[in-house]
Amino acid sequence: SPALVIAVDGPAASGKGTIAARLATTYGLPFLDTGLLYRAVGLEVLATGGDLADEAAADRAARALDADRLSQDARLTTGEAGEAASRVAGYPGVRAALLDLQQAFARQPGGAVLDGRDIGTVIAPDAMAKLFVTATPETRARRRWRQLRDRGDDISFEAMLADILKRDERDAGRGSAPMIQASDAVLLDTTDMDIEQAFDAARRIVEAAR
Ligand code: C5P
Repeated sequence: SPALVIAVDGPAASGKGTIAARLATTYGLPFLDTGLLYRAVGLEVLATGGDLADEAAADRAARALDADRLSQDARLTTGEAGEAASRVAGYPGVRAALLDLQQAFARQPGGAVLDGRDIGTVIAPDAMAKLFVTATPETRARRRWRQLRDRGDDISFEAMLADILKRDERDAGRGSAPMIQASDAVLLDTTDMDIEQAFDAARRIVEAAR
């Protein structure tokens, strides 16, 4: 049977990461959260005393990235890392340096699940199933705010919403692989769904595409 490649794209806090991870478990497929790659590059630039505006430093960090050492670094999931990621993600050299490893991951024999911003458009345009997961900015900000609050972080909802809107604008507005729904992706709006409902809807979309 042909490889089941599932592309899951969408903005921050849309639910795409949780949905993608659960699809991978359900179908027994390897899973790559591609945001971690950009987060690692952003943190590396910061760690080497660099300036996120320094495109050459970001390009070097992307070329030197050791993807096998990514997984369990807790700093990768911080807001600071997300912000740094979205800065370096605008550099074409960074995107080019991360392309091969993402495409190799997508080419595994049984298939794979990848989540990000440009999986259905650039990384795996031939994916068997493509989802574009979204929700209103207010809903996404509320979800992220609750997560952070439960973790003990002290951030206001208004600041969270401003962060989300800024990130959306940067990701959708950049010239290089902007976040955009692929023409053959199915839109999944999770605004009025809990995670179980969103996952069920995602699974139905994948089943219809197989
Ligand atoms: O999904 P996550 O929040 O971890 O992504 C962090 C940032 O990395 C995004 O805001 C985006 O700028 C960038 N990114 C990207 N392309 C991807 C995945 C993430 O540009 N495929």
